[in-house]
Amino acid sequence: MEKRHPQDSISTSTKVVLPNDTNTIGKLFGGSLLAWIDEIAAVAAHRHSGSLVVTAAINNVSFTKPVDLGAIVTLSAKVSRAFGSSMEVIIDVFIEDLVTGEKTSSNQAILTFVAVDRNGATYKVPEITPETDEEKERYVAALRRRQLSLVIAGRMKPDEATELKALFGM
Ligand SMILES: CC(C)(COP(=O)(O)OP(=O)(O)OC[C@H]1O[C@@H](n2cnc3c(N)ncnc32)[C@H](O)[C@@H]1OP(=O)(O)O)[C@@H](O)C(=O)NCCC(=O)NCCS
Repeated sequence: MEKRHPQDSISTSTKVVLPNDTNTIGKLFGGSLLAWIDEIAAVAAHRHSGSLVVTAAINNVSFTKPVDLGAIVTLSAKVSRAFGSSMEVIIDVFIEDLVTGEKTSSNQAILTFVAVDRNGATYKVPEITPETDEEKERYVAALRRRQLSLVIAGRMKPDEATELKALFGM
């Protein structure tokens, strides 16, 4: 099976925070942001796998900075690691300064997608080879995150989570 790189899956989307996307204090509603994240992450997973994909888990979302009504928000998603049928996708979210155009990071999310066929059966996706230092770091850490997600979901016994045990010196 052909090896692919994280760059092959890169997917970006730019949104403007409209009144319908805000909460009661006039900031971007977390649920709207999650929908944008899930959508662009699915595109990245599709670009990597060339198949239909479903969201298997939302592993982590950090809401670091409140985002104002009218803000321009850019989401950039990339597959960080592929396993069997599953892929980890990291989504970096930036806000653009309306005067200077400078982009600052506002959120990061990590999701797991699974490649499926039209009947919902899972199938193997191509491996991924990281290239940049950041991609290599994310690739290595993805195995720990996968084990944590599987333990939390009750799909892996804690004592089988070798990467987590090594991390905590157990
Ligand atoms: C995700 C789904 C396809 C998994 O199906 P399954 O029959 O349990 O299949 P498997 O046990 O073979 O798991 C498939 C892969 O998902 C991974 N996976 C499943 N749950 C996971 C979780 N919580 N965290 C991380 N990985 C997970 C498994 O480890 C496996 O990965 P691998 O093939 O890389 O080793 C199935 O649960 C599903 O269809 N869920 C609903 C998805 C959905 O509706 N999403 C929202 C709308 S898109």
